[in-house]
Amino acid sequence: MDFSLEKAMQIATDAAQSAGEILCEMLETAAVKEKSPKDLVTDADIAAQQCIENRILAAFPTHHFLGEESSISTVHRTAMSQEDWLWVVDPLDGTVNYVHRLPNFAVSIALMNCGKSVLGVVFDPMANEMYAASLGHGATVNGRKLQCSGCAKLYSALIAASFPPQIQRDSVEIAQFVEVLVRSQSVRRLGSAALNLCYVAQGRLDAYWAGFLKVWDIAAGSLIATEAGSILTKQNGRPFDPWDGELMATGSESLSRELGDCLESVRSTHSAKLR
Ligand code: IPD
Ligand code: CA
Ligand code: CA
Repeated sequence: MDFSLEKAMQIATDAAQSAGEILCEMLETAAVKEKSPKDLVTDADIAAQQCIENRILAAFPTHHFLGEESSISTVHRTAMSQEDWLWVVDPLDGTVNYVHRLPNFAVSIALMNCGKSVLGVVFDPMANEMYAASLGHGATVNGRKLQCSGCAKLYSALIAASFPPQIQRDSVEIAQFVEVLVRSQSVRRLGSAALNLCYVAQGRLDAYWAGFLKVWDIAAGSLIATEAGSILTKQNGRPFDPWDGELMATGSESLSRELGDCLESVRSTHSAKLR
């Protein structure tokens, strides 16, 4: 089959739909294992990833594939040329929610070229919401165009955050959480990085920040957010890099400045205390 971005989008949405069906079918019965303390994987993660990998590589046998549950966990992005296409997949983002049958989890599929996402699909099978974007062509949910909120003030913003599984009581992340909680409308920890980015794209959330994510958590959602007009940077305002896992996505430039200043000032106070 010849490559085109339209064809890739068709394969990605079909694969996400099928993987979502597997997740729903296995919801009550999936066996759970602990990869490391508080970091879970189920046999539904594995089955969903296998389904996606089979679909993608059947359609595009020369492409590369990186899934969270792959045995080979590192792909050298610098070794990839412009002709190399890399599919980056999280078959189940929100495994802890899934294990507790909390309906906030998703399938995330991105296609990258030269280390950057050119296509992204995030599917929430419980809500039947298919988020999709391709570079330069905007973002949609179930075919409807997405636009981020435009919220300009931290005081009025509803914000989500992600923390690593082994969060420490006296960490900078907890100090940042407390400060943003006090200064914003409220803070949520919803449990799926991919969906948080889609919710910023949709205006359900005004902002989202995180510090320890992996490329498969965010490769698709970050493109969906930016294609919906979100400002996406690192917490200090520097350019976003999907391979380093730290991000701040907001619904406006001014919220980006205010939230970034807040997160960074907590960080410098916290490191001064440790000196
Ligand atoms: C996790 C979720 C969660 C984030 C974790 C991720 P997983 O992905 O995105 O929101 O806080 O850092 O690892 O393990 O459910 O695929
Ligand atoms: Ca994930
Ligand atoms: Ca996962």
